[in-house]
Amino acid sequence: MRVLVTGGAGYIGSHVVQVLLENGFDVVILDNLSRGHAAAVERLAERAAAGRVVFVAGDVADAALVEHLVREWEVGAAVHLAADSLVGESVRDPARYYRNNVTGGLTLMETLRRSGVGCFVLSSTAAVYGEPVETPIPETHPVKPLNPYGTSKALLEQVLADYDRAYGFRYVSLRYFNAAGAHPAGDLGEDHRPETHLIPIVLQAALGRRPEVTVYGGDYHTPDGTAVRDYIHVCDLADAHVLAVRHLLEGGASACWNLGTGRGHSVLEVLAAVERVTGRSVPYHIGARRDGDPAVLVAATGRALEELGWAPRRSGLEEMIASAWAWHAAHPLGYAG
Ligand SMILES: NC(=O)c1ccc[n+]([C@@H]2O[C@H](COP(=O)([O-])OP(=O)(O)OC[C@H]3O[C@@H](n4cnc5c(N)ncnc54)[C@H](O)[C@@H]3O)[C@@H](O)[C@H]2O)c1
Repeated sequence: MRVLVTGGAGYIGSHVVQVLLENGFDVVILDNLSRGHAAAVERLAERAAAGRVVFVAGDVADAALVEHLVREWEVGAAVHLAADSLVGESVRDPARYYRNNVTGGLTLMETLRRSGVGCFVLSSTAAVYGEPVETPIPETHPVKPLNPYGTSKALLEQVLADYDRAYGFRYVSLRYFNAAGAHPAGDLGEDHRPETHLIPIVLQAALGRRPEVTVYGGDYHTPDGTAVRDYIHVCDLADAHVLAVRHLLEGGASACWNLGTGRGHSVLEVLAAVERVTGRSVPYHIGARRDGDPAVLVAATGRALEELGWAPRRSGLEEMIASAWAWHAAHPLGYAG
């Protein structure tokens, strides 16, 4: 069975491809390299037997290309990770997010539907919930995103629900909390440009590649005043995609699952854990809060365990940081190195 993975040259996508391969699936990656890395794809291809992973440079909005790929490679399921995902950028330039994430996503879904591929896994996000009215956040929490990025994912989820009802187009929407860590093979990892995620930023400071870390807000109603997030190892995320693909291929119903640990860590806890893991000190200062940053974002995780049989296995804070540190220390310039 071959799975189409859009965004497979990106951080989470490259790990999803690796874990799909480890679980016996063949893969065709479609990525326009707007944010991804050809080097990540090369590493995936080097490790796999010839032909098991095919890379095509192209855009999800290119319907003719997607149609051709589905036919040529007999694609049986799709995992859609390709998207822009910078919250601040989405506020400044919503058109980019509605064009790439929404129009691109809709074009892909429609092309797959017409091509007879009815198993679709969407990379969604905790950002669809907006300001939590309940913590930990269950999947039944109201969907009220606070920015165009979150809205773009919520819109795709809405369209998927309508496609399922009308056409039997089955899907799983995976709402990730904060992805972190790197594959134990050591040659895949996080390299966003610009980097906006806390753990790589703190590790870059530990490496001396940043003078210090700015902590956004020290006056939240949390035990140490800094924001609390639910970090989940990227390989645990990848495992959930494999289970979601299998669920759909075995005829399972459409579903929406949170992917997190159910446990939150504050920014200061992450800083302290990085200092313990790396043995280096990380300078930081407390800055102002960012607009739209909730104090606490933690997943309720019971549904994914019960219905998908998924539980995180590698998402202890220090374990995640140690795997990320192995990647960053060996590749201080990311894939450019
Ligand atoms: N990183 C996180 O913590 C996090 C949290 C929640 C949700 N997500 C979602 O997970 C997915 C992957 O995130 P990531 O951190 O790996 O991002 P990433 O930027 O590393 O990967 C995205 C990939 O998609 C590709 N891409 C973008 N638009 C495309 C298009 N139109 N056609 C083809 N390829 C395209 C990029 O080149 C890149 O390789 C995204 O959908 C994101 O919204 C990420």
